[in-house]
Amino acid sequence: SLVRHYKFNVVLKNTTRLCATKPIVTVNGKFPGPTLYAREDDTVVVRVVNHVQHNVTIHWHGVRQLQTGWADGPAYITQCPIQTGQSYIYNFTLTGQRGTLLWHGHINWLRATVHGAIVILPKRGVPYPFPKPDKEEIIILGEWWKSDVETVINQAMQMGLAPNVSDAHTINGHPGPAPNCSSKGFTLHVESGKTYLLRLINAGLNEELFFKIAGHQVTIVEVDASYTKPFKTDTIFIGPGQTTNFLLTADQAIGKYLIAISPFMDTIVAVDNQTATGTLRYVDTPAFSPTSLTTLPAVNATPVTSRFMESLKSLNSEQYPAKVPLTVDHSLLFAIGIGVNPCATCLNGSRVVGDINNVSFVMPSTAVLQAHYYGINGVFTDDFPGNPPIPFNYTGTPPANLQTMNGTKVYKLPFNSTVQLVIQGTSIIAPESHPTHLHGFNFFVVGKGVGNFDPKNDTKTFNLVDPVERNTISVPTAGWTAIRFRADNPGVWFFHCHLEIHTTWGLKMAFLVEDGEGPNESLPPPPGDLPTC
Ligand code: C2O
Repeated sequence: SLVRHYKFNVVLKNTTRLCATKPIVTVNGKFPGPTLYAREDDTVVVRVVNHVQHNVTIHWHGVRQLQTGWADGPAYITQCPIQTGQSYIYNFTLTGQRGTLLWHGHINWLRATVHGAIVILPKRGVPYPFPKPDKEEIIILGEWWKSDVETVINQAMQMGLAPNVSDAHTINGHPGPAPNCSSKGFTLHVESGKTYLLRLINAGLNEELFFKIAGHQVTIVEVDASYTKPFKTDTIFIGPGQTTNFLLTADQAIGKYLIAISPFMDTIVAVDNQTATGTLRYVDTPAFSPTSLTTLPAVNATPVTSRFMESLKSLNSEQYPAKVPLTVDHSLLFAIGIGVNPCATCLNGSRVVGDINNVSFVMPSTAVLQAHYYGINGVFTDDFPGNPPIPFNYTGTPPANLQTMNGTKVYKLPFNSTVQLVIQGTSIIAPESHPTHLHGFNFFVVGKGVGNFDPKNDTKTFNLVDPVERNTISVPTAGWTAIRFRADNPGVWFFHCHLEIHTTWGLKMAFLVEDGEGPNESLPPPPGDLPTC
């Protein structure tokens, strides 16, 4: 294994999209940012230098960070921000993972423009468990706002309301062809008969997406850096923070085919309803040939999302077994949702809040991990409720349980204990699909359903054989998802809805995994350059 060095200079860069130019925060002047390439077991060392007037942290989304919790990156959870003029070296080893992940800014809404791909190749000499592709490409989906994203979020917080939706979706940074401002959009060139491994990433902020290529079926082979049983589909469903690798064979007539993305939202909440498009273009296609079009699922096409999620299974081969915890030490139920609290300083007198089990998480002013490691009192409490304080009809109407409390609470897990977590969507204010993300772990998605989780009967339906292994899972609108994981990684691990606005509102918490007693079971001391608050 190798040590791979990267330098991330965080700099402003004037960038033109939708016929207008604005300065955006970037890594090395690129949007999307540079790709990290490594092989399984390699160590990655990234020196991040902050040259902008904005605090910065970088999160390596989905990287397990075994024994390297100080390198995880969420601001005020594992580290204080890197301030203007400062730098921090993220140093971690890619253990037991191969596939595609992403890195992104993890403070406020920095992720909007600060993100890029992480490609983890198998160890040298180890083949993919699927036919070898002729070529590989990365496709990053995102969102673009005409105004400054910090302004968008600050306005929303002042009003206590939802923020403006984005002005465009993007494919590899491009909203789509706009001839009037000489923007060509994204084009993927393919050669007839060849097979491509496409690494798809949703780096968007607030929307789950459908992705489709006209005229082609694709074969899914991996999600969130773990292999799946291959399955064919014409539509991919991908939430913010998720990654999906698929094989595409250029087996259609030479020509141009539309690549298109559109949002999924099966409730009344507003979305950026734009379809972003790119082109799949066969080499030797005559210049003026028309593009084959495709129809995307409707914005509220829940069945398409369920079918896609239900088709995902772990590869569970001899070489890559699914190590699902079969016993459970901690059985937790998290009721998640969006509610309303009184707010004296808000223009409306109330504000929208996100909560888990009635707790709306408040960011501390020093990092939870530092407070834990050094035993600093008063930063957090370890009384995060493992169940809703008052059980109620989570998915019924009218909504119950409107008041939430604020707190910086963590849930403590002894080293190596096993967790079953049922994430229950609620209909408080607006039922909505929530792509929830757990830092520091891959979890197994053992079940999902609609309505209220029924511990007696629903548990019997769990798949404990080959459930898909991921780091981010969509909890269906007014339904539930059950995950299992083993707490084998000491540190503080953020858990939140990966819709950025929901994180901002407080739909987040953290697990504190205690040190074990054996060698390599405790968190090492922080690196010397760890930023202070
Ligand atoms: Cu990709 Cu805490 O986020």
